[in-house]
Formats: sequence, structure tokens, C-alpha cells
Amino acid sequence: MASQVPSASRTAGQPAVAGVVVLAAGQGTRMRSSTPKVLHTLGGRSMLGHVLAAAAPLSAGTTAVVVGAGREQVEAHLAEIAPGALAVVQEQQLGSGHAAEVALAAVPDLDGSVLVVNGDAPLLTARTLAALVAAHDAAGSVFTVLTAEVEDPTGLGRIVRDERGAPRAIVEERDATDEQRAIREVNAGVYVANAGTLRRVLAGLGTSNAQGEQYLTDALAPLVEGGAPTAAVRADDPDDVLGCNDRRELAERRRTLNDRVLDDLMRAGVTVVDPQTTWVDVTASAEADAVLHPGTQLLGATTVAAGAVVGPDTTLADCVVEAGATVLRSHCLGSVIGPEATVGPFSYLRPGSRLARGSKVGAFVETKNAEVGEGSKVPHLSYVGDATIGRGANIGAATVFVNYDGVDKHRTTIGDHARIGSDTMLVAPVTIGDGAYTAAGSVITSDVPPGAMGVARGPQRNVAGWVRRRRPGTPAAEAAAAAERRADAPENTGAHDDDEGQQTR
Ligand code: UD1
Ligand code: CA
Repeated sequence: MASQVPSASRTAGQPAVAGVVVLAAGQGTRMRSSTPKVLHTLGGRSMLGHVLAAAAPLSAGTTAVVVGAGREQVEAHLAEIAPGALAVVQEQQLGSGHAAEVALAAVPDLDGSVLVVNGDAPLLTARTLAALVAAHDAAGSVFTVLTAEVEDPTGLGRIVRDERGAPRAIVEERDATDEQRAIREVNAGVYVANAGTLRRVLAGLGTSNAQGEQYLTDALAPLVEGGAPTAAVRADDPDDVLGCNDRRELAERRRTLNDRVLDDLMRAGVTVVDPQTTWVDVTASAEADAVLHPGTQLLGATTVAAGAVVGPDTTLADCVVEAGATVLRSHCLGSVIGPEATVGPFSYLRPGSRLARGSKVGAFVETKNAEVGEGSKVPHLSYVGDATIGRGANIGAATVFVNYDGVDKHRTTIGDHARIGSDTMLVAPVTIGDGAYTAAGSVITSDVPPGAMGVARGPQRNVAGWVRRRRPGTPAAEAAAAAERRADAPENTGAHDDDEGQQTR
């Protein structure tokens, strides 16, 4: 489930707009996907989510998202990430100008400034939008377009300026002259306009262009001709305005976004050993002196505290890793890894795992909905599901918390300083008291009182001479015969004891 984009956090003097319109009705044919383009994700958010997050600080009273292709999916997603936004249906995709017109018709009371933005611009930043709105306001403009100077303008609308440098028109590549195609200043697909002016000019737009569509970009020229104040503002960072039309561009945008997130983390004091293989969602965070080893992914709402070490080859989704904890080659979801706790290598923490200070979940352990108390250890090869483990307990290798009877899940409680023998089956619901032991290999089906040793296994029986009789001539029989001969030698006599609750550490 996608998390909500942050809502407006307005501070006095910050640029604002009355409305935001996101154009997101297009099919996105070049993605070749059954998922609508704006729902493809990067850095832990959909493209649409990134655009809405960038616009959120503008504190718009009205946010309208134009939906069309795949609209049920887009509407459902929008309800999750931005429940206050209005979905406006554009029945037929007649062009970006038509989409903006439909959106404005759905919010007839909206006046003042409106930000109109393509839904496929996932690298837009709040800073760039704030600068655009501030420039629009400062110029007293009625229509301001965001632009960027790019190396390769192929496919994008070109910004045509007059001899004084004032914007005159936006010309789509298909409709451009050779001279216009040489222009490297392009339309970002982000505009601020006076709502009333925009309604008026969109109503008059034709479709006489190469695609026979109603282009939003055609709004500029008639305003300029009519003498209205307009502006074109270059983005500081041309990466901000890059669109995303196919899977290759999606991969490039994802990489750029990740680079930005890692740069911020490194500037804040996080060690990122290998930025090429470390992926951090925009919603995740890490504190100074956290260390991220190669192959680490921090996803969703994950936080990593100071001095914690994550990786290599570790994925954390919606996890809290507290100070000084270590997570090595593991996959963890919805879990809390307490201060100085250690996890891995090769462990799987499922939602609801809560590891207290200094506890250990070692190699090849799966946990789910389980509390591991302070200093307690589950060192190897165990399944711990629906459990509460007290402090200072040790769970021997290959112990299974048998939590499921085929219908219902049941809980196991382990007391402080309990010692669970290796290969114990704890058949829930069951309680092991403080300081109690279980014998290795036991199937524990009833409670063990504090300080008791629970033994629940068949007594051992040795059938003497079985191998000699039933497996004659095998290497085992020969080894046994040799051992018998050595034992018969006069200098070798004696026996040794067995121990009930043998553990592993
Ligand atoms: C558009 C701009 C182009 C700019 C580029 C920046 C137009 C005509 N051209 O081109 O100048 O350089 O963005 O990336 O706007 N949409 C609808 N309904 C429609 C058509 C489009 O909602 O009927 C939406 C799309 O979902 C998309 C946005 O409008 O989010 C832009 O449409 P798209 O087809 O991607 O335009 P581009 O060719 O990228
Ligand atoms: Ca586009």
C-alpha cells in the first residue's frame, strides 16, 4: 500500500497557488504496460506521487488530477496517496490543452494562480516549483512556462523567444521548422497561469497541428500577441524537468532520483560504501554515521539510526533500525531492530518482529510477529512466529515456534533467561517459565514452569550388533568391527555420560 504524500506545510512568505492541475490522462503507450504510466514507481513513489509531493508546499486549496487511460487504477491510487485531491475524468484524450480545460471546468470557482503540470515529471522538486511561482508573481505574468536547456531536445516542445529574449511561442517538435528544432531550450510541461485567463485562452484553442490535438502549449502565442504579460523561466537543474515516457527513461530517472537521495544522505554524514548498488526510497532516512554497505535497499518508511551498519545485500522495508544495530545479508519487513541488536546473515524478519536492545537473530532465522527481549538470542536456523521472548533467553538451533494449527495462529511465551534446547518444537499456545529449560529435541505441548526442565522425547534405545547383522560387509560394519577390536584391547575401558538439555550457542 502506497503511503500518502506529505500534505502542505506552509510557512509565511513562501510562494503559493490557488490550484494545482496534474495532467495524467494519457495512455503512456511507449511504456508498453497494462499499468497507467503515472503509476509506475521510482524511489518508493509513483510518478504521480512525486509530482504531487513537489507541488504540496505550494499549499493549493484545490488539487485536480486529470484521469483517463486506466482511470480506475489512477483514481484508486490517488485516493490512497492524496485523499484530498479531485480526480477529473477526461473521456477522450484530445490533448494536453483539452485536459487542462476539462480540469478547470470541474473547479469553476477556482481563480487566482494555477499550476498545471504533466503527470510524467517525477524529478520535479518543490524548490523548482517555488522558484517558478515566485518568478510568475514577480513578473505580474498571466502565463509562465518552466523551461530547461538540454543537450538533446528531441521530442520536446521548443521555446521560441523574440529578439529581446521574451517568450513568443512553444512549438512542438512535429510542428517545428528546422530552425526551431535547433533550439535547445525546451518546455518542461509545467506552467503557472491565471485561472481565468487560462480558461479563456484554452476555450479558443484549435487543433491545427501535426497530431490534431488541442495543445496546452498553444496557449502562450495568443497571449503574447494580445499583449498579455507572460514569462518563461529556466530551471536551475535541467534534470528536474525530465519527463518519463518509456522504461529506459524510467530507469534513468530512477537512477537520478536515487543519486539525489544518496547525495543528501552522504552530505548528512551517512557512509554509503557503494552508491551504484545502494537504493534508498525518498521516504526512507538514515542518520549521520550510519553505514550502508553494497547491495543495501532502504524502502518505504525505513529509518536507520546513528552507528547502525546495514548490508551488504540487505533489504529493509518499513523497518526501524536503532543506534548501533547490525543487519547483515538479510530481508526485513515492518520490523524494529533495537539498539545494538544484530541480525543475519541470511535471516528473514517479517512484519511485527521487535528485537530489543542487544538481542540477536542470527543465521537462517525467520521471525514474524515476535518480540525478542533484551539480550536474548536466536542464533541459528529457527522459526519464531507469534512469540514473546523475555530477557536473556537462548533459543537453541533449529527451534520451531509451532504457531499454526491449520486454522488459527497461537502465541508462545518464553520467560527471562530461559534455555530452549536445540530442535525444540514449541507447540503453541504454550508458556515456558522464567529460567526454565527444555531438552533438545523435545516437542513441548504443555507449559514448563519456572526453573523446570521440560523433556518431551522418546527414550533412546541402542540395538547392539544391528549393523553387523543387517549390513554386513559395508564400510560401516567394518568400522564397527575395528572399533570393537580396539575396545576389546585391555588398555581401553570406560564410558561417558549423556546430558539432557544440550544447547548450541
Ligand atoms: C508535452 C508538451 C511538450 C513538452 C513535454 C515535456 C504538449 C502538447 N507538449 O509533450 O511541449 O516539452 O510535454 O515533457 O503538451 N495528457 C492528458 N490528456 C491528453 C493528452 C495528454 O492528460 O489528452 C497528459 C499526459 O498524461 C501527460 C501530459 O498531458 O502527463 C503531456 O502529454 P504527453 O503526451 O506526454 O506530451 P509530450 O509529448 O510529452
Ligand atoms: Ca510526456
